[in-house]
Amino acid sequence: MKEILLLLFVFNSVAVLAQQTPQDDEEDEPGLRALFARFGDLYQDNCAVCHGGSFEGAAQGTPLIGVELIHGDGMDEITRSIRDGYPDKGMPAWSETFTGIEIQSLSLWIKENREGMLITDIGLNRDIVIPTDTIQTEHHALRLEVLIDGLDMSFSIAPLPDGRLLLTEKSQGLSIISAAGEQSDYITGTPEVYGERGSFGGLGWLLDVTLYPDYESNGWIYLHYSERCEDCNATSRETKRPVSMNALVRGRIRNGEWVDEESIWKAPIDSYTGTTDIATGGRTAMDPEGFVFISVGFKTMDGNQDLASPHGKIHRIHDDGRIPEDNPFIDDPGAMATIWSYGHRSPQGLEFNAKTRQLWGTEHGPRGGDEINLLKPGRNYGWPAFSKGQNYDGSEVNHGRADLELELEDIEQPVVDLTPSPGVSSLVFYDGEAFPGWRGDIIVATLKASDLFRVEIDDGKFVSKEPLIENLARIRDVEIGAGGILYLLLEHAAGSKIVRVVPAEPEAG
Ligand code: HEC
Repeated sequence: MKEILLLLFVFNSVAVLAQQTPQDDEEDEPGLRALFARFGDLYQDNCAVCHGGSFEGAAQGTPLIGVELIHGDGMDEITRSIRDGYPDKGMPAWSETFTGIEIQSLSLWIKENREGMLITDIGLNRDIVIPTDTIQTEHHALRLEVLIDGLDMSFSIAPLPDGRLLLTEKSQGLSIISAAGEQSDYITGTPEVYGERGSFGGLGWLLDVTLYPDYESNGWIYLHYSERCEDCNATSRETKRPVSMNALVRGRIRNGEWVDEESIWKAPIDSYTGTTDIATGGRTAMDPEGFVFISVGFKTMDGNQDLASPHGKIHRIHDDGRIPEDNPFIDDPGAMATIWSYGHRSPQGLEFNAKTRQLWGTEHGPRGGDEINLLKPGRNYGWPAFSKGQNYDGSEVNHGRADLELELEDIEQPVVDLTPSPGVSSLVFYDGEAFPGWRGDIIVATLKASDLFRVEIDDGKFVSKEPLIENLARIRDVEIGAGGILYLLLEHAAGSKIVRVVPAEPEAG
């Protein structure tokens, strides 16, 4: 039975370009875990639109976890709910769409999630063991030093020129970490955030913090957050629940206060949704000429290919929010003028390489692998692509998206295809002094795989990949500090950490 399921889903993942789970829920380990991830795909593709990306409910559907189920939560009852539906209440019957095995797998997926399977799977509570020994890599010996422990679920660090770090904790706020590892009070006056300490899902988070390239002269700091509101659009009024969406402001810090705030980018209020901010992207990158790029993930399942929708896009604006006249869709009246590239899924990393003048990003793309992408203007990165392929039984694969017509050649392929998926997160281009052998390479962090690795790129093409640190923790962010040392932000539900990666003497022998 397990083998049959596995076979089915393996076939599907080859045939369907659109097979992917949200980046935080993914599993690539063999056996059951891989199976669960595939169940998640089925759910995300067909059910999340009504029941929410994290089962929290949405405009047209009820929550499936955190509540008692109306129609019972035994395997058989859930299976019956899915198979026969409640058409008069807005729940379609899925018996025509899915095989018995698929419906059963969906029930299992809901069941496992109700029982907390997801959290344990993704390693948010896995102990973080910081290696004390020297780690020998191809070019350098290195060691890790803990800067600070006990932080809440965090998203981003930004090294300041004076050796301190800015830190965002998603549902707490912005603070400053001193070079000695002490955390300041939260900066007052930053955009409002919501959520309990340690919470995994949620709406209304502080996301990326980014310094202006010329920060030392102008003091501008960019804060990417998800703006939350209630009773503010049709979805929130219908569901009587809050909704949220990516937004970008800039401001300065003066005496522990966030001042001079200016709104740089906001989405139309109708695009705010009740889907959790987990897959919302939320990164910011700046090029030295003052263009700002932001990554916006899928807070809805259907906006990613739609140029009128802000979802699943990289957007580009001037540093003050004006729209650049050379943006690729500026002359398309049906498109959002801020769009740089589209068809993105969960774009967790975004970085401008000042040397090559290229924008790069990471995400979980439509080919079953995580991706490192060179982000070119006007290009389509494919999510959620329609497959012209067939299921192994000869039937067409469309997962409810028969209306989406995409040719493979229209889709920009990743420079680095990371399969099996490590849950790729943030990236930096290394240009520091501490590890000269890495100059010009990409240092990439991962969540699920818990590894830091180095990717060598030549002329926009993949050359090689080396794991630098393995099985460390969910690495949410990686940044380069003074002298070229690396800072890693390690995510843990009961206490996130920041560690420094510094050069070590090579071990004798
Ligand atoms: C178009 C919106 C929509 C879609 C798509 C949808 N559902 Fe539902 N679903 C609903 C609504 C509305 C209800 C509540 C029915 C009721 O009130 O009795 C529901 C109820 C359910 C229930 C029973 C919940 C309970 O409390 O007993 C389950 C289980 C369920 N859906 C699973 C799924 C699965 C799995 C999928 C995807 C294959 C899916 N649904 C897709 C709208 C939807």
